[in-house]
Amino acid sequence: MQAQAAEQRNDPFRRIAVTPFTGTFGAEISDIDLTRIDDETTAEIRAALLRYGAIFFQGQSFTPETQVAFARRFGTLNRHPYVKPMDGHPDVFRIVKEPTDKHHFGNGWHTDLAYTETPALGTVLYGVEVPQAGGDTMFCSQYAAYDALTGGMKSLIADLKVVYTNAHTYGKDANRFKAGVSKAMNVTAAEVKEVVHPLVRTHPETGCKSLYLSPVHFSRFEDMTPEQSKPLFDTLVAHATQPEFTCRFRWHNGSVAMWDNRCTMHYAIDDLSGVTRIMQRVTLEGDRPY
Ligand code: SIN
Repeated sequence: MQAQAAEQRNDPFRRIAVTPFTGTFGAEISDIDLTRIDDETTAEIRAALLRYGAIFFQGQSFTPETQVAFARRFGTLNRHPYVKPMDGHPDVFRIVKEPTDKHHFGNGWHTDLAYTETPALGTVLYGVEVPQAGGDTMFCSQYAAYDALTGGMKSLIADLKVVYTNAHTYGKDANRFKAGVSKAMNVTAAEVKEVVHPLVRTHPETGCKSLYLSPVHFSRFEDMTPEQSKPLFDTLVAHATQPEFTCRFRWHNGSVAMWDNRCTMHYAIDDLSGVTRIMQRVTLEGDRPY
C-alpha cells in the first residue's frame, strides 16, 4: 500500500512513508519504529535525509543504547569536545534546561561543531521530557539560501573563507559561563581555537553547493577584520534565515529530529521559563568541508 502510494507520488521511497514538511525542505517520516529497522529502511532514511535536509519522527522510544545503535547505522559517532556525556554512554549527551536555568543550549543560528576541523555530518536529537508548549527548534536550508542568491553575489562570495571559533560558545569568557550553564549539562570552558572553512561548501554526497553559515561561531572572513567581515556575513545570514528557507519543529515526548549539518542551520527557541526540557543528542562525525 505504502509502496503503491509512493509510486503514485513518484518518490523513491518504498519502505518508509515520507511527507514533505514545507515547500522548501524537511520531511516527516511516519509509521516506523527506529529501534527496529533493517538495512533497506536505513538506506531510505539516509536518502530522505539527503533529499530533505531535516527529517522528523514522532512516537519513538529511545534508550541511550538504541539511539546510539540507530545513529551508528549512518556513520561514526562524535564525542562532543566540551559537553559531558551521559554516565556510561560516551557518545550521548543530554541537553537539559531546568526550571530555574537561564541558559538555553543552541539558542542562536548555527550548524553543529562548525568551530572544529571536521564539523558534524548529522545530529539525532530525541525529546525525552518536552514541555507542553515552547522549546521548538527552527531549521533553515543553506542549499535554498545559496540557490536563491543572485549570480553577482555568488561570484562575490565564491572564494571567501570563514574563520569560525569556539570562543563565543565555549571559551572561558563566553556569555554562557558568565550567565551560568545548566549544572546538569556540565560544560567545560575551552582553550580558544579558530578554524577556517569555505563560505560556500559542496555537499560530499549530493554534490550540491550550499552556504556554510554558523553565526554563533563566526569570527571573520579570512584576511579581513571582524568589522570588515560583519556587514556581508550579516546580510547572508538575514538572507538565509528568511521564512521561505526555514521550518519549525514542535517537539513532543518521543519526537526525533535528524538533520544534515552540511546543508542546514538550526536554532533552539528560548521561549521557556519555569519548566523542564530534556533532550538526548547523538552526533555523527563529519568530514572537512570543501
Ligand atoms: C542543538 O543545537 O543541538 C539543540 C537543539 C535543541 O535543543 O532544540
